[in-house]
Amino acid sequence: MGVRGEFYTPEINRNIIVFRAGGAYFAKHVPIYMQDIIYVLDFGSQYAHLIVRRIREMGVLAELVTPQFPLQMLAEARGIILSGGPQNLSESSALRVNASIFSLGIPVLGICYGQQLMAYELGGKIQSSKRREYGHVEVTLARKSRIFAGLGKKQDVWMSHGDAVSKLPKNFTIIASSDNCPAAAVAYEQRKLFGLQFHPEVMHTKNGQKILANFIKITGVKKTPKGRDFIEKSVEEIRQRIGNDRAICALSGGVDSAVAAVLVHKAIGKNLTCVYVDTGLMRAGETESIKKIFRSYLKINLIIVRAEKDFLARLKGVVDPEKKRKTIGELFIRIFEKEAKKIGKVKWLVQGTLYTDAVSSGKSVGSKNAAVIKSHHNVGGLPKRMGMKLIEPLRDLYKYEVRKIAVALGLPKSIAYRVPFPGPGLAIRIIGEVTRDKLELIRQADKILSEEMEKSGVKVSQYFAVLPSTIRSVGVQGDARTYGFPIIIRAFNTPDFLTVQWANLPHKLLAKISSRITNEVEGVNRVVYDITSKPPGTVEWE
Ligand code: XMP
Repeated sequence: MGVRGEFYTPEINRNIIVFRAGGAYFAKHVPIYMQDIIYVLDFGSQYAHLIVRRIREMGVLAELVTPQFPLQMLAEARGIILSGGPQNLSESSALRVNASIFSLGIPVLGICYGQQLMAYELGGKIQSSKRREYGHVEVTLARKSRIFAGLGKKQDVWMSHGDAVSKLPKNFTIIASSDNCPAAAVAYEQRKLFGLQFHPEVMHTKNGQKILANFIKITGVKKTPKGRDFIEKSVEEIRQRIGNDRAICALSGGVDSAVAAVLVHKAIGKNLTCVYVDTGLMRAGETESIKKIFRSYLKINLIIVRAEKDFLARLKGVVDPEKKRKTIGELFIRIFEKEAKKIGKVKWLVQGTLYTDAVSSGKSVGSKNAAVIKSHHNVGGLPKRMGMKLIEPLRDLYKYEVRKIAVALGLPKSIAYRVPFPGPGLAIRIIGEVTRDKLELIRQADKILSEEMEKSGVKVSQYFAVLPSTIRSVGVQGDARTYGFPIIIRAFNTPDFLTVQWANLPHKLLAKISSRITNEVEGVNRVVYDITSKPPGTVEWE
């Protein structure tokens, strides 16, 4: 490694080793199939994660790391991006960077605070702007630069800053200015050092993606092999790690665990057993579809555990959301553990953990301890207890990348593009006590919603029905008075499920959904639409 430090979860992934040194977490990429990488140094901007995503959208591997990430490792990168951040360079607490990164011969792009930091470290000066610039601003390109290749003289960009570069470091020139910010972009072309006071990663910067693409071109980084290449390399890697051992995988019905299972199955065949626990809290037709796809089509060992009765018995009288989640999680793990023991000598647990899962659960590089908003349902605690090792083949990928791999693996579209579904299932979409009748009712409503969404062709990231069973309302249906349940419809768009924007569904579609649910689902006399984003709401109601 060339770096001293306490190793932390070295098993975490086949191509990232995370370790801890001096109280901070670092990630080391062991380039097995990914030869080229761009490191994004995280100075705390809320958009740092978005920079990584934008680069990855271009098929290039990018990784978010702390500013203290060791120089020796940065030196392996093809390019370095310094993110924005809330600090002020006049304060001693401001996060700094080892100035040697600017003489590694690697292209560097500083964004917002990143530009100021680069200028500062190289001898420039920073000053508070006369006026804070926030939001949309027009900049004028002052001279030719490779970072702006192919762009017109005037550019719509998005700014959010108080400070700005007031004196350039030696050899730097201004390449764009706005009314309030003379150094809206700077460059030292020969050394391939570039700075932008605005944010190319946000959508509001019209040609932001083009600017990032220009930077990528300057770095000469090669695209990450995806699809077939990824599959081949990943399968080989899994085969080497697992050898002749046995592995087990909990299938949830979603795309992540399915893809993880298929990759491991390709590597070790019969030594993999998948376990699907039918909690009775699933959507309509879910268990049957899993059975068909995994047993008949993919020919993967699959154990289906029918446990509806057990789950309903445990959930009797439980109304508190966290208690519900914990009750379900515990029982799930107990059942899963029992099945693993039955198979015997299982050494590996396969999980479909994604890049964003690691980030949202506060495990990613550089993140602080996140508050527990919800106890997410997973079997992550199991391996330690049972002496198993974790295998997470999708840990570097975003959901949309996993969907592409699912298609490349030949998984049916119904799985590849399946609407995400939480582990605790419909139980956390029934507000109040969970009963078999209520489950039946919400399943019917959810099925109608799915049918209408699919028919309409309207694409959103996720949609579902909620049954607030503690509320009733008066209605009139067929000339008679009813006293029934409402159904809440939720639909939204999101790049990563960390923040979401409620979806503006066409009124005609909402009308159809409402009329079908109230007509066809007995006991429901009202449909309402949830217009809450995240934050302040979360996706699921509980
Ligand atoms: P929240 O409600 O946390 O949901 O904003 C974000 C995304 O995660 C899904 N979700 C879960 N997925 N186990 C899962 O596997 C869980 O316990 C769980 N809770 C929420 C939710 O559907 C959304 O896509």
